[in-house]
Amino acid sequence: MVALNSKTKIAVFISGRGSNLKNLIRKSKLKKNKYKVHLVISNKADAKGLDCAKKNKIKNYCIEKKLPIFENNVLRLIKTNKIEVICLAGFMRILSPDFIKKVKIPILNIHPSLLPKFKGLNTHERAINAKHKFSGCTVHYVNEELDSGKKIIQKKVKILKSDNAKSLERKILKLEHKAYDEALEKILFFKK
Ligand code: GRF
Repeated sequence: MVALNSKTKIAVFISGRGSNLKNLIRKSKLKKNKYKVHLVISNKADAKGLDCAKKNKIKNYCIEKKLPIFENNVLRLIKTNKIEVICLAGFMRILSPDFIKKVKIPILNIHPSLLPKFKGLNTHERAINAKHKFSGCTVHYVNEELDSGKKIIQKKVKILKSDNAKSLERKILKLEHKAYDEALEKILFFKK
């Protein structure tokens, strides 16, 4: 039987704190939202986000393995759980082109800068040092090139003279929590 109006099953990949994961779980519980966090995968056993998955009784796995074993295990979990979208949220590992090709579902990532500016790490520090007036976050599709896939949503914030990397990170994290949910709702808009 086909379940009408069923929520899209997403998997969230994390490596650490998991504040974006926590927020996606919270938002996914709203009746109006079209997605459901069905699976959490971490590549780090001490990722705090895993506690959040456990608390919410969401299937969670920690896979601390080298590339082919890691990706083969993940692929199997994605298939057996019928996951429809993967969301990278503070996932500090680069997925191989082979994985991206084989998985055959959209992979989204959230990045703390206004891409294409400041790909990679230490984005807040770099935005401040470059004396940019604005920074923000971007939710984008993942392709084979780091932080380079098609943009879905971008949110920006002013960099004040008084900002340092920490204060800017805090401001942008708040935006991230809005942006990821909005990006998912945007790509799932036409889904019944
Ligand atoms: C976020 O700033 C995200 O943009 C970046 O890593 C951080 C993860 O934070 N990719 P959290 O683990 O979701 O709290």
